[in-house]
Amino acid sequence: MHEKAVCWLDGRLVPPAEARISVFDHGLLYGDGVFEGIRFYRRRPFKLQAHLERLFDSARAIALDLPFGPEAVAAAVAETVAAFPDDDGYLRVVATRGVGALGIDPKNCTRPSLFVIADELTMVPGPVRERGARLIIAATRRLPPDGLDPRIKSLNYLNHILARIEANQVGADEAILLNGAGRVAEGTADNVFIVRHGRLLTPPTVEGALAGITRETVLELAGQAGIPALETPLAPYDLYTADECFLTGTGAELIPVAEVDGRRMAACPGPVFRDLAARYTALVAG
Ligand SMILES: Cc1ncc(COP(=O)(O)O)c(C=O)c1O
Repeated sequence: MHEKAVCWLDGRLVPPAEARISVFDHGLLYGDGVFEGIRFYRRRPFKLQAHLERLFDSARAIALDLPFGPEAVAAAVAETVAAFPDDDGYLRVVATRGVGALGIDPKNCTRPSLFVIADELTMVPGPVRERGARLIIAATRRLPPDGLDPRIKSLNYLNHILARIEANQVGADEAILLNGAGRVAEGTADNVFIVRHGRLLTPPTVEGALAGITRETVLELAGQAGIPALETPLAPYDLYTADECFLTGTGAELIPVAEVDGRRMAACPGPVFRDLAARYTALVAG
């Protein structure tokens, strides 16, 4: 594992075995930090500006003053990608509150840490992509948007992990989290779309979804393709009765869904998915 990994930590490339964060870092002790996952294709980070903007917005939202500006982070990303052995890969950019006293108060932390990892990532195995993902709706709910704004991409993923454990326990490929009102929020690390009567539908982010950059890209591609698209609240019923369903995310890219809680989609991969996936592939290749 991680044979190819390249790490940049607080200003310089370091061998992965030496890329260590202190046990006193509040990112570890309290999940006090923010992050981004970015793919690079042919050594070019895809949608880098959008990811940097979201990273810095997340940091501002949690009052974390990053020790590097967007240009310096972009330079760190470029240095990390250049040192990676392959042309395509995945980047993780993480900013933590840094080392501090054991209490929760962030004012005890003197300097935030920032690190970048480049590595391989196969989030969804090839056979699952081929046959379509089998989803469950998890009992674990998404954190309420009035508790933690879903636009903050923070280091707190525990309820997503619990949902993923539920999926693992029943042999499903992924779990959908509902919000407190029982409506669809998102997957554990991806956004969800359905197609019904020729229209593309996805929950608005206020329902508890991360403002996914792949989600945004797919909505733009749908506009270019003339596919009517709408951000609208969705119930489990809408997933069960959809013509098509698919997931989007930087790690996942576009994954067709074969079934949700044992209800099979009318088509997988359906015609709308195939059209959008082809456009997405063309976009990242360009
Ligand atoms: C909870 C969650 N939702 C959605 C997404 C998809 O977002 P993006 O397309 O920006 O990768 C992610 C990606 O990391 C995620 O963690």
